[in-house]
Amino acid sequence: MPLASGPSPQLLLFSLGMGLVSGSKCPNNCLCQDEEVSCTDMQLMEYPVNIPLNTRRLLLSNNKITILPALQLGFLSDLVYLDCQNNRIRELMDYTFIGVFKLIYLDLSSNNLTSISPSAFSVLNNLVRLNISNNPHLLFLNKYIFANTSSLRYLDLRNTGLQTLKYEAFYHLSALETLYLSGNPWKCNCSFLDFAIHLLTFQRAKSAFQMSAQCYLKRGGAEDKDGQNATCKEPTELSGWPITQVGNPLQYMCITHLGHHDYIFLLLIGFCIFAAGTVAAWLTGVCAVLYQNAHRKSSGDETEDDSGNRVAHRIFRRNTYFGQSRFPQLI
Ligand SMILES: *[C@@H]1O[C@H](CO)[C@@H](O)[C@H](O)[C@H]1NC(C)=O
Ligand SMILES: *[C@@H]1O[C@H](CO)[C@@H](O)[C@H](O)[C@H]1NC(C)=O
Ligand SMILES: *[C@@H]1O[C@H](CO)[C@@H](O)[C@H](O)[C@H]1NC(C)=O
Ligand SMILES: *[C@@H]1O[C@H](CO)[C@@H](O)[C@H](O)[C@H]1NC(C)=O
Ligand SMILES: *[C@@H]1O[C@H](CO)[C@@H](O)[C@H](O)[C@H]1NC(C)=O
Repeated sequence: MPLASGPSPQLLLFSLGMGLVSGSKCPNNCLCQDEEVSCTDMQLMEYPVNIPLNTRRLLLSNNKITILPALQLGFLSDLVYLDCQNNRIRELMDYTFIGVFKLIYLDLSSNNLTSISPSAFSVLNNLVRLNISNNPHLLFLNKYIFANTSSLRYLDLRNTGLQTLKYEAFYHLSALETLYLSGNPWKCNCSFLDFAIHLLTFQRAKSAFQMSAQCYLKRGGAEDKDGQNATCKEPTELSGWPITQVGNPLQYMCITHLGHHDYIFLLLIGFCIFAAGTVAAWLTGVCAVLYQNAHRKSSGDETEDDSGNRVAHRIFRRNTYFGQSRFPQLI
């Protein structure tokens, strides 16, 4: 009997290769079955290695993962369901999801996202549900970020740091049914107007054509769960207004109505013009009087010496005449 009972190196290499190809391995302490890999509640600091390549559902929630590595993720080209809820992911790059273009479900809620690259989701044409809620350091979304996610039906943007959104961001989301926007410090200034108007029309379109759709933005019904809590935080005169209704007052403020700042401005302009006019008139008067005095002196000298240029003399006389008729002598 041979003493060395382990497998031969060739066999080891072979099985390793097979493992990589067929995806028969499973990450430590994770559960792998039926094309689903579950690594939830594991205190993982990093994206796990050895995920089977045929995985279709990957559950990574409740860990401490900070980075989603594009390369490793890209091996899972059949992935349709990715749950990264409650981790510490900080940013999404252009190419983070480039290899997992079949994704239908993507949950990035309760992370620490601070920036999402404009084309991070650009290959996710099949994405139906996207959850970015509870990322309080997320302050900005590029207006092209949803340009290619045209299948999106549920979009959760609750409890982020977002102050404003561009309506262009939603231009391509023709399938969108539910949009969650509450818990954000919305800044309802004039830049917000286009989006607010888009929300008004979005509601009307939804209530007209998709009565069955759970439109959380629809106001006044039993389904109104999110709309009431998505309110303006700034400016103070609109604070507390639901953003689904702020379109009309904003339109009034930004387009047809002059605020009291504008009135003060106009008043100041008017006063400046008035003051400038008065000063100009006064200066003209002073100049005229000075000129007149100087001329009277010089014309007296000229008649006395009585020789020289007649034309100049006549011009001087005429000027004197006009000057006298226009400006009463102030001395
Ligand atoms: C998004 O995730 C949060 C928890 O992080 C959850 O409460 C919410 O229901 C999710 N939204 C959707 C639309 O599934
Ligand atoms: C989340 O991000 C912010 C800003 O980048 C940072 O200050 C904070 O420490 C992060 N929190 C965690 C738990 O990583
Ligand atoms: C959007 O998807 C189309 C194909 O569906 C692709 O040609 C295009 O490059 C994508 N756009 C971006 C910005 O990736
Ligand atoms: C409105 O607020 C946003 C977010 O703070 C800002 O980027 C934008 O410049 C503001 N627009 C106007 C017209 O003040
Ligand atoms: C709306 O906000 C209030 C107070 O913050 C909270 O009690 C309530 O549960 C919220 N409603 C929804 C549907 O989120």
